Amino acid sequence: MKNLIQLKNEGYTLLKNVFSETQVLSWRKHLLEYMSVKSNRCKSENWLSVKPNAINYTEFSDHLTIFENKNLISFLKEACGGVLKYAHHYDVHLDAPAYRFHHDGGIRHLNQKFKYKDRKGWDDTKLRNYIKEKYDLTYEELCGTNDWKTYANPTNDYNNKHSVKGEKLLVYRVGIYLQNHKTKGGLRVLSESHKKSSKSCKSVYVPSEIGDVVIWNCKTFHRASNNTESGRGFVHMAFGKPNFLLDMYSEGHSARLTNQNGEDEYKLSNNFKKVLDKMEILY
Ligand SMILES: [Fe+2]
Repeated sequence: MKNLIQLKNEGYTLLKNVFSETQVLSWRKHLLEYMSVKSNRCKSENWLSVKPNAINYTEFSDHLTIFENKNLISFLKEACGGVLKYAHHYDVHLDAPAYRFHHDGGIRHLNQKFKYKDRKGWDDTKLRNYIKEKYDLTYEELCGTNDWKTYANPTNDYNNKHSVKGEKLLVYRVGIYLQNHKTKGGLRVLSESHKKSSKSCKSVYVPSEIGDVVIWNCKTFHRASNNTESGRGFVHMAFGKPNFLLDMYSEGHSARLTNQNGEDEYKLSNNFKKVLDKMEILY
């Protein structure tokens, strides 16, 4: 209950001892081996040691147990008001930290549906028409501004904090560090920045240990805290409360992951679908 209240009020929380140390160290060992092979890294991002959409690749089938964890999933269901939907974001990182405070406003990635396919860079007209035709929304209604680039800036305070056609975006980002971060190298957040200007929010370090899970609202400003040691393993995913804004978020993210992997179509594996069905998580 304390975690739930903290997540709602402060925009983040830390669930203690969700996974066993043996389990986490086995994910860590696998990640180090996987990323030691250059061709497994992300070619489109200059061979960054990141695997976008990892959960849908057989090499990461051991990670399916994350979605089968009853404590974690029932917590997320409660946080989302009872019904939980996967937000089609899952990636694993070895290092590659984001050191600037930012929010995870995933709807901004909707531009990736067009940006890469055209190979001509930014195509604002197609995106604008798509949002109007599919969701019957203008930029102004969705973004609160008529300029997508302003809306899409993840260091900008604006991020769907307002209602759109009576609905609000509610997405939780879930992170699992594969090593201890009791004093450094873990997550730093601006507490309460999911509901007010980040400039007036206090910076808080979240001291996590192996087996813990960090959860934050996608609107909460956060960053990786400075780390002098390399080899930081991190697993990162998103879920939310089902509504059309979550669908837009998922559409943006799945387009991004697909582009990052240099594929034509978003990959969603049958094994993963079976787990989501079993756990009654929508997708
Ligand atoms: Fe982030």
